[in-house]
Amino acid sequence: MADRPALVILTGAGISAESGLPTFRGAGGLWEGHRVEEVATPGAFARDPELVLRFYDARRRALSTVEPNPAHHALARLEAVWDGPFLLVTQNVDDLHERAGSKRLLHVHGELLRARCTICGWADRWTGDLLGVACPSCGRRPALRPDVVWFEEVPIGLERIEAALARCTLFAAIGTSGQVWPAAGFVDRARRAGAHTVELNLEPTDASDRFHEHRFGPASRVVAAWVEELTARR
Ligand code: APR
Repeated sequence: MADRPALVILTGAGISAESGLPTFRGAGGLWEGHRVEEVATPGAFARDPELVLRFYDARRRALSTVEPNPAHHALARLEAVWDGPFLLVTQNVDDLHERAGSKRLLHVHGELLRARCTICGWADRWTGDLLGVACPSCGRRPALRPDVVWFEEVPIGLERIEAALARCTLFAAIGTSGQVWPAAGFVDRARRAGAHTVELNLEPTDASDRFHEHRFGPASRVVAAWVEELTARR
């Protein structure tokens, strides 16, 4: 057993698929005929803030209808018994990892259940709709936006992620197509640090050849089995 093995896990939309939340690039990747890329951009918000707010209000409301699945719970169990450095980086803006009990968690693309004011900079947890709501701090409207990272915007926590990747001995990417940077490059940084890298996905991706190991199948089954093996060895 490596002394204090350092683990970094990256999750994407695929880990929440079996909870009922559609992925971006799969069949469910459309919303009212819009590709997410058309809606999740600063330009789309400037052009049509109501469309963008309706899109995120619909996704936020959907959160109350879904539950974490066995893959989320398995990662929370793994964190609880892991005796070395551990960081779970999620590209997802849902709160399913938190609801499953994950603590050492970083939302690199922000959170659906947070909002911020584009005028005064106020930001806080937000569970209701945003459309038509005035900023609770400066009172102006329209001013509020979801506190998520859109295309062309700077992802969250990159320095903390870089520090974790630079010392990690095991890196796993779960349920992500590896299409969006910089998250898509985390596996390369982990390999440069000498880490063993595992891809857990429904099927091979364009990034598969950059991983040492692959476990294909639905996350609820494959992640639970992988965690079972890791915790049995400890
Ligand atoms: N189990 C495991 N993997 C699954 C499952 C499942 N049940 N269902 C789908 N997948 C896999 C798909 O094979 C695909 O590789 O999940 C991945 C989903 O890929 P995307 O839809 O591209 O989602 P993601 O990789 O998270 O996208 C990254 O792009 O749109 C932006 O900001 C958005 O965070 C998102 C980022």
